[in-house]
Amino acid sequence: MSRLANRIFVVSLLVAFMSALPAWADSHGKAGQYGIGKAATAEEIAGWDIDIRPDGKGLPPGSGSVEDGEMMYEEKCASCHGSFGEGVGRYPVLSGGEGSLTEPRPEKTVGSYWPYASTLWDYIHRAMPFTQPQSMSDDEVYAITAYVLYLNDLVEDDFVLTAETFTSIEMPNQDGFFLDDRPDTENTTCMEDCKDPASVKILSEPTMVTLAAQEDVAVTEETSSVDDKVYRQACQMCHAAGVAGAPMTGDKAAWAPRLEQGREKLLTGAIEGIGIMPAKGGQKQLSDQEVATALDYMIEQVKQD
Ligand code: HEC
Ligand code: HEC
Repeated sequence: MSRLANRIFVVSLLVAFMSALPAWADSHGKAGQYGIGKAATAEEIAGWDIDIRPDGKGLPPGSGSVEDGEMMYEEKCASCHGSFGEGVGRYPVLSGGEGSLTEPRPEKTVGSYWPYASTLWDYIHRAMPFTQPQSMSDDEVYAITAYVLYLNDLVEDDFVLTAETFTSIEMPNQDGFFLDDRPDTENTTCMEDCKDPASVKILSEPTMVTLAAQEDVAVTEETSSVDDKVYRQACQMCHAAGVAGAPMTGDKAAWAPRLEQGREKLLTGAIEGIGIMPAKGGQKQLSDQEVATALDYMIEQVKQD
């Protein structure tokens, strides 16, 4: 065959192959949008569809008691998580920690932190034991889940976990999780008579708060008689280094013209926001009184000689 004929032959083979693909896909299940692949069978989907919803939907038939779970847990889980869920070495702690969430070092466990018991069944079924995930039968997962709940004082020792009894479990921290309904932004979308985008300019770039500036604050702190807690938490990040044009704390020249407006006016600016400074420095949970305390601290830094 000549070179050209060879090429034509190869191309026509390709065309024949490609036009046959959808037919092939059809005969091997429903052809997808691109004429390739096949529709998954119900059985195949079931292999992936293993998630359990917070309301218990997805829990398979089966049951397991705290009593049965104890032995299985001891055998399959205790080597890492401890016999009482206390955690061996650095493996996760599974029990205890109640009431610790508001402490500086919260202990987040199934009992103290998790909002849904369904996660426990799902997680154990999906991922544990660590070295042999998905090796346990549904009944074993039920029993071990019941036992971990028992370790957290969430069920009695005669409890038997099933898809039905599941709904009786109340997780202590379930109300600690809720949808955040705060708006993403304060501004409303402009729909008419809007500014020409080309005329909108960013006037200043944020700069990093330098270590030196923070040290300055630390020094002035010792000499201050006003409480600087709120200032440090809510204002320092911008005012210590003059971020975005904020008048720097302690910079008398920058504050002089502002001080002339009087404390009341400054306070209004701090509470309601001024220029690009957001209201209360962006921390709306602060009371007006707290903002005033921070302001007084800032004023004191420029009044001192
Ligand atoms: C070989 C050690 C090992 C064994 C055995 C083991 N786990 Fe785990 N487990 C881990 C590790 C490591 C993690 C953390 C995994 C991660 O964060 O990715 C974990 C995480 C968990 C968590 C989530 C903890 C949390 O608060 O995030 C649960 C619940 C759990 N395991 C239960 C079990 C149960 C029940 C068994 C027995 C069926 C078991 N584990 C057996 C090592 C183990
Ligand atoms: C995100 C950065 C940022 C934070 C946080 C911030 N400010 Fe400001 N602040 C600015 C900027 C920028 C200005 C200058 C605004 C202008 O004049 O256009 C300013 C100005 C001010 C003024 C002068 C108001 C006036 O009328 O001239 C006061 C007072 C003030 N801030 C107080 C505070 C207090 C109190 C806090 C903490 C509760 C705080 N700021 C937190 C950026 C910030």
